[in-house]
Amino acid sequence: MGQSLNLPDAESTESLARALAAALPADAGGWAILLQGELGAGKSTFARAMLQSLGYEGVVPSPTYTLVEPYNLPGYIAYHIDLYRINSTDELEFLGWSDLKDGLKLVEWPERAPQLAKEADIRIELRYADGGRAAELTGLSERGTNALAALDHGS
Ligand SMILES: Nc1ncnc2c1ncn2[C@@H]1O[C@H](COP(=O)(O)OP(=O)(O)O)[C@@H](O)[C@H]1O
Ligand SMILES: [Mg+2]
Repeated sequence: MGQSLNLPDAESTESLARALAAALPADAGGWAILLQGELGAGKSTFARAMLQSLGYEGVVPSPTYTLVEPYNLPGYIAYHIDLYRINSTDELEFLGWSDLKDGLKLVEWPERAPQLAKEADIRIELRYADGGRAAELTGLSERGTNALAALDHGS
């Protein structure tokens, strides 16, 4: 069961990302959030706003070429991951996927490794709609579903 939201401009995408950051526990190490949507849908915009809201103060580049960018947050580590160039779940191990398990993972193009959905907590699907974007939020685990239920859309 998902919730749908209209995101008329980039600021509303960032605002949703900040609301989700606020709905996570104080230590979100081990969580995985899947960011789906075509090129330009706002996946990196969302991840960047989340990381900054969680306390990262530096620049957040797109991990398109590096595949994984680590971020030291107050209290735990986060990984911004882009699987666009991954062709199978096997390649995740090659990437050192299991080394990332204690961090908060924000994953762009999770469709490239379908096994991921089984271990993930939340799926955010972004799509083009009415000149802006629309988001579909789905809880994939019990804790993820609970976090979405606590989401404060007004913030
Ligand atoms: N809700 C929105 N409405 C309109 N433009 C948006 C919205 N959210 C993000 N954008 C813009 O769309 C672009 C998305 O780029 P990016 O986040 O890199 O996409 P992706 O990572 O999905 O390829 C950015 O220029 C951003 O400012
Ligand atoms: Mg991106």
